[in-house]
Amino acid sequence: MSNLFTPYKIGPLELRNRTIRSAAFEGMCEHNSPSQELFDYHTAVARGGIGMTTVAYAAVCQSGLSFERQLWMREEIVPELKKLTDAIHAEGAKASIQLGHCGNMSHKRICGCTPFGASRGFNLYSPTFVHKMNLKEIDEVVAAYGHAVELAIQSGFDAVEIHAGHGYLISQFLSPYTNHRRDEYGGSLDNRMRFMRRCMKSVVDAAKGRVAIFVKMNTRDGFRGGMEIDDCITVAKELQKCGADALVLSGGFVSRAPMYVMRGQFPKKAIAHYMPMKTQWWLKAGVLIGGKIVSPTVPFKRLFFLEDSLKFRKALPDMPLVYVGGVTSREDADKVMDCGFQMLQMGRAVLEDTDFVNKMMADEHHCSECTHSNFCVGRMYTLSMACHKTCTDITPSLRREVAKVERQNDRKERKLGYK
Ligand SMILES: Cc1cc2nc3c(=O)[nH]c(=O)nc-3n(C[C@H](O)[C@H](O)[C@H](O)COP(=O)(O)O)c2cc1C
Repeated sequence: MSNLFTPYKIGPLELRNRTIRSAAFEGMCEHNSPSQELFDYHTAVARGGIGMTTVAYAAVCQSGLSFERQLWMREEIVPELKKLTDAIHAEGAKASIQLGHCGNMSHKRICGCTPFGASRGFNLYSPTFVHKMNLKEIDEVVAAYGHAVELAIQSGFDAVEIHAGHGYLISQFLSPYTNHRRDEYGGSLDNRMRFMRRCMKSVVDAAKGRVAIFVKMNTRDGFRGGMEIDDCITVAKELQKCGADALVLSGGFVSRAPMYVMRGQFPKKAIAHYMPMKTQWWLKAGVLIGGKIVSPTVPFKRLFFLEDSLKFRKALPDMPLVYVGGVTSREDADKVMDCGFQMLQMGRAVLEDTDFVNKMMADEHHCSECTHSNFCVGRMYTLSMACHKTCTDITPSLRREVAKVERQNDRKERKLGYK
């Protein structure tokens, strides 16, 4: 028996077991505010036995917004968030919120300004030019991280998860691919970590030990020219020094290697189908024409980040580490625990079935029925996170795409010996 279903204490927080629903963008926050759908969804996840559920990707300030239905941390949403955390707690689970800033991926019409990033460039997603952050903007975003943590505490969250990976703003500063600055925020890795260090100080100062601080970071960016594992281990050590309570080990870069984050195929038809026409007609067309080229398939493998995460385990022996990536069964979860990780996160297994954790607890052979067709990625543009199996409004054409992707996944994974 692994320690999967034993309690775990971290900072001021005690989890009933070692499972966490990873931050997987819900797209349920009309007017950038919590909704009934968000409430119902996370309450169901909490009821499903999870130790802690993570509300995904809240922007620390308006300039960091990328999606129309993305949370934006501000005073007026605190009462609604408090209702959400109360409901999660009533089900026996803890509540975390992922805090981030989309940086050069922010959407001009939604974020209220010309998007900015570590360096200037072009944002295909918006589409718009992006300017290099000046020192005043850096100070403002750093302060916004602290303010967002204070609001999360007022809202009753037990933990915050700072997003320092996947090519969003902190990651844009860390990666030599997106950081071409010549000032004290660019150049050497130590300089590129400066923005992250400042954000962390702002977070730690605001938290004052009242919430656990998780940081989601990359083990690699996942493409040539991005961060590789040795530099990422240096970043992890720095985060430990900065006061992070636990690190969530992920990887990938949304603008360059999105499928590295979750593996499998880019679901171009589902994304184009659900993407809103009003703000993103050019992107809809772009996704259909060039989606597969910009987002190449990275074959799915169970526990796909395990090999790299074990290197972090070795390099940071006394740091609580959270495994994420391809946990599909009780067997996988036990294996992760036996490898010395303190907690694990699951995205798609819980998206497919909110009761996944209870089922793993009841049956040591329980296995997720998620086929990683990644149809759920398209559903980020709807008000429901429904898997294609339970989705009522799926068109015949989308069903055909899912079936085709499933067949291709199966063939590829068998060929590579992953199955
Ligand atoms: C639909 C969907 C939305 C996601 N949104 C986010 C997000 O907002 N923030 C984040 O850090 N990761 C996001 N992810 C990545 C997951 O949290 C997780 O790291 C990844 O899916 C690998 O875990 P899994 O194999 O258990 O799904 C998303 C994944 C999916 C499938």
